Amino acid sequence: MSAQFPVVRPRRLRRTPAMRRLVAEAQVRPSDLVQPLFVKEGIAEPQPIASMPGVVQHTRDTLRKAAHDAAEAGVGGLILFGIPAVKDGRGSGADDPAGIVQKALRDLSAEVGDATVVMADLCLDEYTDHGHCGILTSSGEVDNDATLERYASIAEAQAAAGAEVVAPSGMMDGQVGTIRAALDKAGYSGTSVMAYAVKYASAFYGPFRDAAECAPRFGDRAAYQQDPANAEESLREVFLDLDEGADMVMVKPAMTYLDIVRRVREAVRVPVAAYQVSGEYAMVEAAAAQGWVDRGRIIDETLTSIRRAGADIILTYWATEVARSLSHR
Ligand code: PBG
Repeated sequence: MSAQFPVVRPRRLRRTPAMRRLVAEAQVRPSDLVQPLFVKEGIAEPQPIASMPGVVQHTRDTLRKAAHDAAEAGVGGLILFGIPAVKDGRGSGADDPAGIVQKALRDLSAEVGDATVVMADLCLDEYTDHGHCGILTSSGEVDNDATLERYASIAEAQAAAGAEVVAPSGMMDGQVGTIRAALDKAGYSGTSVMAYAVKYASAFYGPFRDAAECAPRFGDRAAYQQDPANAEESLREVFLDLDEGADMVMVKPAMTYLDIVRRVREAVRVPVAAYQVSGEYAMVEAAAAQGWVDRGRIIDETLTSIRRAGADIILTYWATEVARSLSHR
């Protein structure tokens, strides 16, 4: 008897590059990518970040140049993080109209105009001397409601300085509602809120804390960020933020939470963003520097997997580089 050969052969659709391109599902486009940028007050030269090779703390001048390059490469957006020269208990630099972030936001709007979307991370950890994301009580806990008042004021300052999107990342209860109300009251009903709705207490933020000089002086963020063991509360957080007026929701980190990205994508009818965070970047760069992995292919694969999981928007430190290479393909 002759051997039984398969009639159905999935390999037919993988035979040539042209065929594979034809049937490819998930694709990353420059316009889906958001470039995070750091600006530091009072430095004359950009400062490299040891744990994030290729990423720097910018001066106002080099920030403009980086923003120009990102816009030229076609990235969908920029998200700004500021590091003030002086930090204090209430994070005064965060909502100071003459503070570094507000100045840099004005620079960015002037530099890129309508070419890309200017966003501002909205939090206190980069501005507080204790490194927590909010105001502390006398016993050293983060005071949720006192922090909300600070966030409202920051939102207003960032919108006034030209942020088209504010992105609250502090995981305080009610932050989106408070910020939405403050923006509307101040005449910024057109400013969007991209909520870091799902934010895990993750070791993958380690390198960022060098970049933003915001490692907590004591304790950790586990009393306000989510436990990596939990999936259900992510949907709870997402629905709360949508009820409070979020225009877009984010999941963070990305690669260790692709199941959550997928669940959120299926549950909501707004754009879903995923943040490929500093530790995800650092791991790839470190392995690539050793020659242990193919850097370009790994970067493509990570971004494709995040898109396939359902993210519409990806925040990644490789945004400009990838956008550039995509437009040359
Ligand atoms: C808080 C904030 C953090 C990141 C983005 N916004 C740090 C934290 O929660 O500890 C991390 C981003 C990254 O790791 O790339 N302002």
